[in-house]
Formats: sequence, structure tokens, C-alpha cells
Amino acid sequence: MIDFDPRTRTWNLVLATSFHALRADPDGRVVCLGSGPRAVGPALPIASGALPDDPFPRIGVDRQGRRDEVVTFGDHTWHEPTLKVSFPGADGGLPIRDVRLRYASHEIDRLADGRETLRIRLDDPVQPFSAWLCLRVDATLDVIERWLEIENRGDRPIQVEQLSSGTLHLPAGRWELLHAAGGWAAEFQSERVRLPVGTTLLESRSVHTGFVHHPFYLLSFEGGADESHGTVYFGQLAWSGSFRLAFEQRPNAALHVHGGYSPFDFALSLAPGERHATPALLHGACADGFSGASQRMHAFLRERVLPRTDPPEPVRPVLYNSWEASYFALSLASQIALAKKSAAIGVELFCVDDGWFGARRNDTAGLGDWRVSPEVFPTGLRPLADEVHRLGMKFGLWVEPEMVNPDSDLYREHPDWVLHFPDRPRTEHRHQLILDFGRPEVVAHLADALARIVDENAVDFLKWDMNRSATEPGSVAGKAIWRRHAEGVYALMDGLRRRFPRLSIESCSSGGGRVDAGILARTDQFWTSDNTDALARVAIQEGASLAYPARAMCCWVTHERNHQTGRRLELATRFDVAMRGALGIGSDLSALDDAELDEYAKWIAFYKRIRNTVQNGICHRLQRLEEAGTSIVEYVLPDASEAVVSTVAVERRIAQLVRPARLRGLDPSALYAAFDRDEREYVRARGAELEALGLDPNLGTGRYGPGYSRTLWLRRIG
Ligand code: GLA
Repeated sequence: MIDFDPRTRTWNLVLATSFHALRADPDGRVVCLGSGPRAVGPALPIASGALPDDPFPRIGVDRQGRRDEVVTFGDHTWHEPTLKVSFPGADGGLPIRDVRLRYASHEIDRLADGRETLRIRLDDPVQPFSAWLCLRVDATLDVIERWLEIENRGDRPIQVEQLSSGTLHLPAGRWELLHAAGGWAAEFQSERVRLPVGTTLLESRSVHTGFVHHPFYLLSFEGGADESHGTVYFGQLAWSGSFRLAFEQRPNAALHVHGGYSPFDFALSLAPGERHATPALLHGACADGFSGASQRMHAFLRERVLPRTDPPEPVRPVLYNSWEASYFALSLASQIALAKKSAAIGVELFCVDDGWFGARRNDTAGLGDWRVSPEVFPTGLRPLADEVHRLGMKFGLWVEPEMVNPDSDLYREHPDWVLHFPDRPRTEHRHQLILDFGRPEVVAHLADALARIVDENAVDFLKWDMNRSATEPGSVAGKAIWRRHAEGVYALMDGLRRRFPRLSIESCSSGGGRVDAGILARTDQFWTSDNTDALARVAIQEGASLAYPARAMCCWVTHERNHQTGRRLELATRFDVAMRGALGIGSDLSALDDAELDEYAKWIAFYKRIRNTVQNGICHRLQRLEEAGTSIVEYVLPDASEAVVSTVAVERRIAQLVRPARLRGLDPSALYAAFDRDEREYVRARGAELEALGLDPNLGTGRYGPGYSRTLWLRRIG
């Protein structure tokens, strides 16, 4: 609910268990009155506008508590601004780098699904410049989407020098930040740090999101939250380009959070009459700890962000991917053999990875030439696609559209189509360069090439890869390339999905290098990491689960001896870990005997029984890996009829007690039975008992070493 009190010019955004309140003060400045969890109950306004706006002490002129909803650069310069603009001076005089925004008007719209959008218009009293602070409230899912729209109402161009999607002012305190950082094959490593006084940055300085920092945060008071208790403020950016999240912890304990475009090498010119809308910052607050925050982000992404295919897919299909089985050694015969084995074990989507096009026999050539290689598939890909369809599976292909190998026909024809500075070296990563999405002809060329691939080969699924960061970012678009690249990718994906409504897409960037709420609006799932070692994946997947739902997180079972780490793990462990997301298979099925294939089939059949609960249920991290070297996760359906409890021990910590997993979200009075893959019943107990005493994680087996794992399926039986 959005309530407005015209007397005090106060807006109350009241959500299921949280609120955000703001007001236009007597000077017309729109300031934040507060935000945070609220007691569950009727949606009544919280702030009346009677209390002082600025509860922080002021030290000299440094108004450390300044809580404008849009912080502008001009009257002061010592805080991070949301917005900084340079206007041309009158008669060629000094440019004016000063914006003040004052309340002009507002409107509240309601969507058919119940979401409400508050748009507050703010004008500069002198310059012909307006901004709209936009807040879309999803009261049921407890998430606010915030973005800023700006317009040059003058008759000369203006330069925007810094622009965030939003600035949030959190209550005073010493804060801890939980987020995820990493690198190739080690994405999403969770990090928990006490914010120092000063500004802490999470950022990407590439044309894509990257995996150095992932664009989300969970904030709690120092020592004030765990997985199921305590106040947590959370947020994530719906943007897949260079981004920045800045956490400004002031000496007086105020915390300001800014999220949006990175100011690094930023430039945005607005012509007369031109408008720009930023991507959204999604944010909220809850009182039920880190799992509570994650659950809200998961539900929002599932319900409001992830695309809907036509017909809709209630659950993600079981995938097979050829990469670790075939690498670049593709042939029609080998792929058909893999497809037959895949179908026989229960796979629903068969995807051919890299190497099917141009001169792409290894990673040094062919990227950019999106024609089926006659050398590899002399009769084209259609016979394979047809066979895959005949076997009852969907057909998928790997592409990496944004890139080119210098050894390719495309590059030979258009050496200027890549990011570069004239007469300067062009740094290659994995022997490839990035196409210049500042050129409309590049984006148009790719739109045609991709549509042709999908159309001619009856493609149902694209694994869309992006395997390097930017260097020498020279573009015909100038500094705007940092935005244009992501906008071009969005336009390509949106265009394809409009034209092929049944198509689904996976976002891959050397693994989890482009995962964010912006790309997830046009991709159905993401490739979490090239690291498929089940034990290494526990931390990777746990970090990803802080922000992203299991439904979107693609996880493969691969070889007994892992290709990335060389570690050998039992098949059960590999399945137990991969079943925590959207299951895929990456093993060389042609090298397995019938008994092994039969085991795969049994696991896949089990996964199909539990996947609705895993993919669409509520996720509780019952025990974090960092706590005792073991990770225990529960997924429970909202109606409490079913739950899945997954335990994986990664380390053995001698003499350290692994506490029983106290389940959550069950019906206290109902009786539940817990079954394993083979329908063996382990326990039968009431919901209240399972929540109060918990389930012994090793189920009395006494086994508890690295690689010990178990997936139990709980069903309400009375
Ligand atoms: C990237 C991806 C892999 C695979 C290869 C193909 O590394 O992350 O999964 O698709 O490219 O070259």
C-alpha cells in the first residue's frame, strides 16, 4: 500500500513485513524518514511526518545525516551523490555543476497484479531539469523497485557526470555486509565484513557484470543477524554492465547505500528534451535473518523478473550439455550417441556446446562466424536437432555473440567492429576481442545471425556465453559504451524472445560472470560456474543462493574424476549437490556402462519428483558451510505439504558438533515421513518436533566425512 498524507506531504510505502517512509519537507526536499521491518498486521501508515526528519547529530557543517532520497552534487560535495550534472554556463560562461531537486508533484499508479508505483517529480528551481524518483512497491513479495528518470527540459545539451539508480539511508549503527565475490571457477564466495568508516565498494569496470563482485548485498547490524533471526536490509541491481554498490559508513554511524551505474569513466549526454531512465535497484528489509532476505529476493525474481516462456514451464527441464564430454571434438555421430543415452536416462533438453560453427576447432579461431561448420556437420545441424526432438528432448546450442576471434571471416571483413583505440594494441583474452556494441550495424548483424541460427536449426535453448572483460574500451559510442554494451545485449535477447516465444536462454560468462536481475529478466537460468567439482560447488551455490533462486541456478553432474580439480567423488555426492538447483548432466555418457547409466536414471527420476519443491519452494539455509564445514539446506513448499532437506559435508572438523538440522516452514501438527531416493523411510515425526529438535544430519549412520551427503524428501502423511 502507498499512503500519502497531503497535510504533512508524507508517503508511507507499507509492505507485508516492511516499510519505507519519505516526505517533502517545508523546503520541498524529499527526504527519507525511515525504512525497515514492521510488525505483521494491517497495512497502516507508520510515519506521520511529526518526528524530525534528520535524527542525526550534525558536526559543524558536515551534515552527516543528510537523507535526501536523491542526493545531488552542488550545494555540498563531501557526500556521494546520487546525481551530478553539468549545465552549460550562460553566454559561454562557467558551466554550472549544481542541481537542487524540489518536490513538484507526484502520482500513484496501480498495476493489474496489485503492484503500485509512486512517481515523485522533482524540479531544479533554476535549471530546466527534472527528475522522477520512481518506487514500485510489491507489497506481497516485500520488495521495492527503485529507479530514477531524468529529463533535460532546456534547449542545450547537458552532461550527466554521475547517476545511480538510488540512494538508501539506513538507521544508525555499526553495520556488517554479507555479499559474494570471486573469480573464474570460484564464483559467489560469500564474504562477511564489518563495514569500516569510509566507503566500501562492490563494482564491475567491464562491459558486463563480472564475478569479482556480484551486484547484491545483505546488511545487518554487527552481530545482529543469523540465517533465521535479525534485521537484514537487502538489495540487488537489475543491471548487467559496469556497476557500483557503495556503502558509505559515516563516523556518526549513519549508513548510506548507493547502487547503479559505476561512476568510473562514466558519461551521459542528454540532448534537449531527452530523458534517461536508470536500471532498477531492488531493495527491502526483513526481521527473519539472511534466509528471510534471500527468500524475498528469490520470490521476487521468480514471480516478477524471470521471463515466462510460451507455453510456461512450471519447472526447468533436466539439461544435458556436451562440453565436458566432447570439448571441441564434435561430430554428428558422437552427438547423436550422447543424445540417445541422454534421452534414455531422462534428460529433457540436449545442448551442444562450443565448436559447431565456422573454423572453431579450438578457441583460437572462428568466433564470430555463425555458420554451421560443414567440416564437423556435413549435413548441417538439422539432422541432430531433428533426432533430439524425435527423442522427446529440446535442442540447445552454445553461442558467444558479443565476441570475435581475430582469426575469423567476420574480423577479416570488419577489423573496426571491435572495441579498440586506433593504432593502439588490441589486447586479446582467450584469443578474442569484444565487438563494439556502440555500432548499430554490429547489433543488427548479430540480430540476423542469431535469428537465423534459431530458425534454421529449430533451436529451443541458447547457452549465451561471454568470456572476457573489456580492455581498450574505444567505441564509436565513446564512454557511453559501458551502458550501450549491456543495452545491446538486452535488445538482442528481447528481440529473439519476441520472435521465438518458446526459446529459453541461459546466461553464461565463463560460468557465473553475468548473473544479475537485469539479465535474469531475459534469461531463464544461469551457468553457475565452470567448476563442477561437487564439493567446491557447495560454497559457490550457497553464495549464489544468497540472492538467486534455485530454479535459475544451473548445476551439472560431471565425471567421477573431476576435470577442474582432479578430485574423485561418488555419484551420490555429485547428484546431491547438483539437485540443489536446476539439474544438468555433463558427463561423457558414452563412457559409462549400463549399471552406471541406470544409476543416473534413478537419480534423475528422483530429482523430477523433488524438483518442484527445490525450484519453486522456500529455501532455508539451515546450516552454512562456514559454520561447521557442512551445508544443510531445506526447500519447503509454501503449503508445507513437502520439503527437501539436503546435507553435504565438505570438511571434517574433528570434535566439532554438527548440530541437528532444525527444519522450518512445516505444519507443526502434521505428521511427516522422510524418504530417500529409493523411497526408504528414515523418520516419521510431527512438524513441531522436526522444527524443535531437528533431524540428525547423518541419520545415525555415524558417517560424517568430506563427501558425505544425503537428500531427503519429506512428505506430509497426516
Ligand atoms: C566457457 C563456458 C564453458 C564452455 C566454454 C566453451 O568457458 O563457461 O561452460 O561453454 O566456454 O568454450
